[in-house]
Amino acid sequence: MAFKKVWCALALGFLLPFSCAHTDFFTSIGHMTDLINTEKDLVVSLKDYIKAEESKLEQIKKWAEKLDQLTATATKDPEGFLGHPVNAFKLMKRLNTEWGELESLVLKDMSDGFISNMTIQRQFFPNDEDQTGAAKALLRLQDTYNLDTDTLSRGNLPGVKHKSFLTAEDCFELGKIAYTEADYYHTELWMEQALKQLDEGEVSSADKVYILDYLSYAVYQQGDLAKAMALTRRLLELDPEHQRANGNMKYFEYIMAKEKEANKSSTDSEEQEKETEVKKKDYLPERRKYEMLCRGEGLKMTPRRQKRLFCRYYDGNRNPRYILGPVKQEDEWDKPRIVRFLDIISDEEIETVKELAKPRLSRATVHDPETGKLTTAHYRVSKSAWLSGYESPVVSRINTRIQDLTGLDVSTAEELQVANYGVGGQYEPHFDFARANEPDAFKELGTGNRIATWLFYMSDVSAGGATVFPEVGASVWPRKGTAVFWYNLFPSGEGDYSTRHAACPVLVGNKWVSNKWLHERGQEFRRPCTLSELE
Ligand code: OGA
Ligand code: FE2
Repeated sequence: MAFKKVWCALALGFLLPFSCAHTDFFTSIGHMTDLINTEKDLVVSLKDYIKAEESKLEQIKKWAEKLDQLTATATKDPEGFLGHPVNAFKLMKRLNTEWGELESLVLKDMSDGFISNMTIQRQFFPNDEDQTGAAKALLRLQDTYNLDTDTLSRGNLPGVKHKSFLTAEDCFELGKIAYTEADYYHTELWMEQALKQLDEGEVSSADKVYILDYLSYAVYQQGDLAKAMALTRRLLELDPEHQRANGNMKYFEYIMAKEKEANKSSTDSEEQEKETEVKKKDYLPERRKYEMLCRGEGLKMTPRRQKRLFCRYYDGNRNPRYILGPVKQEDEWDKPRIVRFLDIISDEEIETVKELAKPRLSRATVHDPETGKLTTAHYRVSKSAWLSGYESPVVSRINTRIQDLTGLDVSTAEELQVANYGVGGQYEPHFDFARANEPDAFKELGTGNRIATWLFYMSDVSAGGATVFPEVGASVWPRKGTAVFWYNLFPSGEGDYSTRHAACPVLVGNKWVSNKWLHERGQEFRRPCTLSELE
């Protein structure tokens, strides 16, 4: 990837400035809609080609029919036919010029327009990396949302508008991608699905022998020897001469025999295994908590705590701009305190912000803790852009609103970040603030650490896409036109680790947010620090 980009910049940078710009399509829906339009244009061009080819064939057919009649009459009585001087003249003319013209017509290439369109558009097409990225996004969604392979393949997802299903061949393709990633768990699931669809009679070019070959290997890699053998047996029924399968079969039988031998002489290791199993169950890694929260299986708050969450009209602490028209505010969580503002950005403002951001969206980056530099990462899959208050009165108005309602100075904040998550787009658990071991993260800004986060939801999301806080068990669902706000730092300036949060992968639809990271400088009198560290 890095190599490719450098190569692009060197070799094609000034010749074809666009050919390299469109990578990472799968990370946002914004750019993928362009592809849909490209495809539509190509279909129009393909249809034009078909029309041209058909009209050419029509002309040729007419000629053939005319000549068919003519030669039928002529051959019946050649001498009588040629006795007519006009017929004699016409025969000369036909053979000398008309057949030649017909030959040119037959040779004429009607595909010019289509092929040149194709050549131009191909520069913007997704590449292998995009295809793999989109496939991996599917696998990620499958895990996060506990979707069984069949549901996903039949397209039975919640909230979908355009139902779409996977063919056996598509399933095979997904399985192969998982296989090249050495992800044998998903290889098994998808190869099995492909096989199932073929067994159910789906007509397909996918080949059972190939599928079984991958499947048995993936099953073997996961340690189910008996199943791997059964699958290999099935493969051999279809193709008794299959070399690798025959070899594998012998090998499996050999290990099976060896394992039986070993089993006879060990019983206490089983005890040990049971113990580690128990440990596994008790311990819930962050990943599991994150995924549970994404599915809406929140670690629920006690009713007692929940009762202390309120909604209210808020005037920004008697801010003159909000005294007459206070805004609606809801408590989302108590500790850390997360509040949501309702009807806080209008549909028109959202449209303006999206339009300003669209041409500038590029793959979001993160700080590499080792180098302090910005890089792309698999755990943050989205496209984003930065908007400055100078470039539009709408952005400037939004910044002022954040300042009025948080009471924090926005002049030291970062610019407004706009992010678009496509299907599978996500941002895994992270802190917005810099930790003590990375003091350089925001050094060049010179405005201190990220004291607070303001996050606008600029779209609803059909399924998935929650903002979750795995440390405390909070899930905040996107609602268009609302915004959430929380402090990342305690008044002492210490980081609040309970604010660790994530953007869950989008399952159906697409998610637009924009956020403002407010910094410490400028808040000295607005939010004075205290002596106690964790206050
Ligand atoms: C972020 C972030 C959450 C979301 O961009 O830092 O945490 O729901 N976003 O998009
Ligand atoms: Fe964040």
